Amino acid sequence: MSNTTASATDIVAAALHAGILAPSPHNTQPWEFRVHGETIEVLLDDTRVLGYCDPDAREATLACGAAVLNMRMTIAEQGRECVVEPLPDRARPLLLATVAVGGQRHPTPEEQRLASAVERRHTNRRPYLDREIPVAVRHALTEAAGAEGARLVLLDQAQRFDEFVALLRHADHLQQQDPRFLAELREWTHDGERSDGVPKAAGGPRAVDGGLLALRDFGGDVATEREFERRPLVAVLTTRGDTRLDMLRAGQAMQRVLLSATAAGLNASFLSQPIEVDSVRGRLRELLGGHEHPQTVLRLGYGYPSAATPRRPVEEVTREGPP
Ligand SMILES: Cc1cc2nc3c(=O)[nH]c(=O)nc-3n(C[C@H](O)[C@H](O)[C@H](O)COP(=O)(O)O)c2cc1C
Repeated sequence: MSNTTASATDIVAAALHAGILAPSPHNTQPWEFRVHGETIEVLLDDTRVLGYCDPDAREATLACGAAVLNMRMTIAEQGRECVVEPLPDRARPLLLATVAVGGQRHPTPEEQRLASAVERRHTNRRPYLDREIPVAVRHALTEAAGAEGARLVLLDQAQRFDEFVALLRHADHLQQQDPRFLAELREWTHDGERSDGVPKAAGGPRAVDGGLLALRDFGGDVATEREFERRPLVAVLTTRGDTRLDMLRAGQAMQRVLLSATAAGLNASFLSQPIEVDSVRGRLRELLGGHEHPQTVLRLGYGYPSAATPRRPVEEVTREGPP
């Protein structure tokens, strides 16, 4: 075990630190943690849900699910059992999960690999290299989603990919024409002076001729245009159902995919426009066969490392004591 002497207090502290490193839409960090003893409650902070582009709190719930996965891997890596109870109390709908530190056990190599990727994972919106992702790595990514009860559909067939690109561009166009979407995006974009929201510097450069994929424009590097990769790997994460439990599961699966990608030397960014525009999400579902529910869309590839974005400190998002 990596750390048999770590106290439960230290392990809870490590888990909380891992929790705040999860990705979240517009870096809203829509979580609140409550600690009692060796149990962490993970709550949705509904004051931080993007009211316009995430009205069902899908993306916020995914973000909280990602925080849960980070905590799970960190607790496991510290040589402890981790017991998660999703949606444990119907009377407290904002309580998404409890994460409890259990007895001693050996971490698996996989848990160690994923835990060590938590700090290194960052959204990378810059161009990637035109380097093929080996089949074994693609397989590992789909396995990661499967391990959490979700499915990662790789859009590696030309026709499906082209149809997806058309949907992405359509959704992006609708958002770019929508003053309420743009106002919300502006509210969460800044020059780097805040501990939440997206610093303009974290936005990628504009693509020459708009590029193949429509990447979200955070208004950063507007002066330069860059060539992006010619054949990006795009993957849609889906679940069988579309309940809050499915979204929580999807968040853990998303994060497991992202950590697996990081551990394999890959970068990732998100293409959420077709998820956020309801009518387009329905068409994306049809494109994938109509049986499963798209939860998030990722772009994956090799590239140069990107920087971390700020986080609100653990003390700001955590309360001690019983609910
Ligand atoms: C569910 C979800 C959807 C997201 N959608 C987008 C997106 O469409 N475009 C984008 O550039 N970033 C997107 N992001 C990435 C966040 O902006 C990013 O996680 C946040 O700024 C924190 O940065 P980090 O991931 O580097 O830690 C999304 C993140 C999550 C969890």
